[in-house]
Amino acid sequence: MSIRKVSTTPLSDQKPGTSGLRKAVKAFQQPHYLENFVQSIFDSVGDLRGQTLVVGGDGRYYNRPAIQIILKIAAANGIGRIKVGQKGILSTPATSAIIRKYQAIGGIILSASHNPGGPNGDFGVKYNISNGGPAPEKVTEAIYDRTKVIDSYQILEAPDVDIETLGESHLGETVIEVIDSVHDYQELMESLFDFDRIHQLLSGNFRISIDALHAVAGPYAHAIFEQRLGAPVGTVQNGTPLEDFGGGHPDPNLVYAHDLVDILYGENAPDFGAAFDGDGDRNMILGRKFFVTPSDSLAVLAANAKLVPGYSSGLAGVARSMPTSQAVDRVAAQIGIESYETPTGWKFFGNLLDARKATLCGEESFGTGSNHIREKDGLWAVLFWLNILAVRQQSVEQIVREHWQTYGRNYYSRHDYEEIETAPANTLIERLRSLLPNLKGKQFGNYQVEYSDDFSYTDPVDGSISEKQGVRIGFTDGSRIVVRLSGTGTQGATLRVYLESYEPDPAKHDLDPQQALAPLITIVEEIAQIRELTGREQPTVIT
Ligand code: G1P
Ligand code: ZN
Repeated sequence: MSIRKVSTTPLSDQKPGTSGLRKAVKAFQQPHYLENFVQSIFDSVGDLRGQTLVVGGDGRYYNRPAIQIILKIAAANGIGRIKVGQKGILSTPATSAIIRKYQAIGGIILSASHNPGGPNGDFGVKYNISNGGPAPEKVTEAIYDRTKVIDSYQILEAPDVDIETLGESHLGETVIEVIDSVHDYQELMESLFDFDRIHQLLSGNFRISIDALHAVAGPYAHAIFEQRLGAPVGTVQNGTPLEDFGGGHPDPNLVYAHDLVDILYGENAPDFGAAFDGDGDRNMILGRKFFVTPSDSLAVLAANAKLVPGYSSGLAGVARSMPTSQAVDRVAAQIGIESYETPTGWKFFGNLLDARKATLCGEESFGTGSNHIREKDGLWAVLFWLNILAVRQQSVEQIVREHWQTYGRNYYSRHDYEEIETAPANTLIERLRSLLPNLKGKQFGNYQVEYSDDFSYTDPVDGSISEKQGVRIGFTDGSRIVVRLSGTGTQGATLRVYLESYEPDPAKHDLDPQQALAPLITIVEEIAQIRELTGREQPTVIT
């Protein structure tokens, strides 16, 4: 086996976003495209010689060929050991857990998260650092800078590695260790949750239904819920990862996980339902005929954390992304802990978790997690809920309704306008920014603007500043409108509008959220002129 040095030229479009480099599969299949990016990672993250690297992906189309390329480039770059998930499968949370457990220098996750897969779908490459979390901006910037000047990469000329069979082999000097995709992750979950109690719950009358949407969470869900926790076989649907996710959109929300929604809202519905996204870091929680918003889910987990063994000594603090509803802030205030408000994107939680300022964190976009790893974690959220349900012996709906009675209800909704043209989307945001200074004090019907800004975040740990993180318009009654452009789409632009109002009165906790938020929907249309500027009458997805 020999190392080949291949001359190449920069491909000029390899700027990693919040979730790594995410592009159409076809982009990654261009000559040298993946190779350039992977070599740029290895050139930027310090001395890798002799170190351990973790590699795996969500099983989407191009996962296997990409892994072979990465293994051969890694071997040519002198990496000591590579832990690869069997068949190339590792969920994002499992990768984070494995990096931490084995003190790996980092990991490469192959996923485009909830974006569709298949030959015409998307692919992605994300580098995580030694704390198990996504590379911070200074690292992704260094990688990007490298991609702009790269002129060669090194690759081992060798036959493909068998990644189907567990065990160790050599690739040049590098040890390739094919690991069980689930084992380390399951062990971590068993250390946090009361598995005996959940087992009792699931082997009794309490019925759950899990939809893995043909994506990476399937093997984890089969092993943990069915094999370990006593749920009947068949509890997990769509549990075998498919390269094209069965043609679906592996995003656990009310639109894309509609099969599960139909089950939970249908005849003889089970007590609990959950779905995950492509790489297993997102979750949607449903009760019988009941949807738990991700923002409420975070607040409920925080309020009940002491019931769960891994969190029984209490929380250091909580953190939520700025557009996430303020429900968790109310819990934090009651417990007497800090609630941090960060920009959108999981990476902003890393410092707070490392510095032990926050224990739980979450985003409105179906992401929930804790200090056990440095990524959001779909299965973890479900186990947390099941642990609470096993202790409280109430239904999901009862638990959430009692929560609202105690803390008040934060009505919440997100309206997405997907694949709009980039130019008008930018115009809309620029125009909105220009209006901000004049909005304060303005009256819209019963609503008076208390503040309006473009969110800026100063990291309390390292002092770094992130500006222009989304337009916020806050009203005197605690309601909020947030408008921002997605940073993860691959086609055109996606406009996200977040709406929130607060209702303390339990007699008014039964409204349909769209109805409760209707006045704010009218106001944001008036201020941002969404219809006029995007040409869209309706959002694509309402959550
Ligand atoms: C979206 C979500 C955000 C999440 C990110 C990665 O980003 O809104 O909360 O962290 O995906 O999963 P966006 O497309 O809004 O930039
Ligand atoms: Zn994801």
